[in-house]
Amino acid sequence: MSHTISFPNSEHGDLSLEAHTPLADELTVQNSPILFGCRTGICGTCLVTVVGDVPPAKAEEQELLDVLAPHHPQARLACQIDLTQDLEICPYGTAHHNSAPV
Ligand code: FES
Repeated sequence: MSHTISFPNSEHGDLSLEAHTPLADELTVQNSPILFGCRTGICGTCLVTVVGDVPPAKAEEQELLDVLAPHHPQARLACQIDLTQDLEICPYGTAHHNSAPV
């Protein structure tokens, strides 16, 4: 089963990825606008806002999100996302989906 990843505020085209593909690997290969560092949920480089149904953050991810993006329920670490649905992803802090500024 594959899912579509789109990057609404970028020129980058949509990607179709198999479920549970590690985003850190594939988005880097595809030269997407999402940047990665540690890939293990520690550095915060991959902070994004996400529209779509993603499994909730684990405790370690949530701890970092509480520091980097407090009170922002759409914020996630892209390297920690388990791909189970179509997603729209934007780097955190960029204009996003016609929603309120982040
Ligand atoms: S790449 Fe470091 S937290 Fe995701």
